[in-house]
Amino acid sequence: MTVRTLVIDGEPVGAREGETILEAAREHGIVIPTLCFLEGLSAVGACRLCLVEVAGAPRPLAACVTRVAEGMEVATDTPRLRAYRRMILELLFAEGNHVCAVCVANGHCDLQALAAAQGMTSVRFPYRAPARAVDASHDRFVLDHNRCILCTRCVRVCDEVEGAHTWDVAGRGAGSRVIADLDQPWGTSDTCTSCGKCVQVCPTGALFEKGRGGGEMTKRREFLAYITTARQAHRWIR
Ligand code: SF4
Ligand code: SF4
Ligand code: FES
Repeated sequence: MTVRTLVIDGEPVGAREGETILEAAREHGIVIPTLCFLEGLSAVGACRLCLVEVAGAPRPLAACVTRVAEGMEVATDTPRLRAYRRMILELLFAEGNHVCAVCVANGHCDLQALAAAQGMTSVRFPYRAPARAVDASHDRFVLDHNRCILCTRCVRVCDEVEGAHTWDVAGRGAGSRVIADLDQPWGTSDTCTSCGKCVQVCPTGALFEKGRGGGEMTKRREFLAYITTARQAHRWIR
């Protein structure tokens, strides 16, 4: 095993070659906020919450998809990064319809928790208040596009872990949305096995179990740990 030595927030850190900055930081107890990343799933670098500054790099880099290198100097918590992270969160809140007080995931939402942790107290951007659909056609689950932040965790867990590949992302820009199969109601999907994995990994209240009221949709964290363990044990490999 080749070891790389780098510096994160002024501390010398050893990391395995091929590891990402995020993995190296976590192994040393350094917290970098993440949203689209979920251990056990492939990393896509979509949300940019995990941006870090690397000495010599012209712009901040996403820690979840940037590999460590010998002698790298990384800063994970600077005023510029904190400002970027707050702005990203504000844009996410402005872009969809996130009314936490009446959300099924109120108090159990990664987006909400991140906003609080990053000191987001208001949104400086005009709310778009888009008219988005709610798909309640599935027997057990609901997809509320109003709360979807397009992290693609559902797409990846359904494809990489369940092997069903029910979800995909369609459209462009602000019109992008997750779709089931050939853009049909979820309840009519031929591929969905109703395993519920997508519901458990969704970081917001966009995917939830039917019958849940405000604040009642808790995520089963032991399920997330299973994903990590199973992937490390190569229980599924495409
Ligand atoms: S319930 Fe399972 S199979 Fe169905 S869409 Fe979600 S992850 Fe895929
Ligand atoms: S439904 Fe949930 S998991 Fe899927 S992309 Fe939207 S926010 Fe992410
Ligand atoms: S967690 Fe790294 S880009 Fe989303």
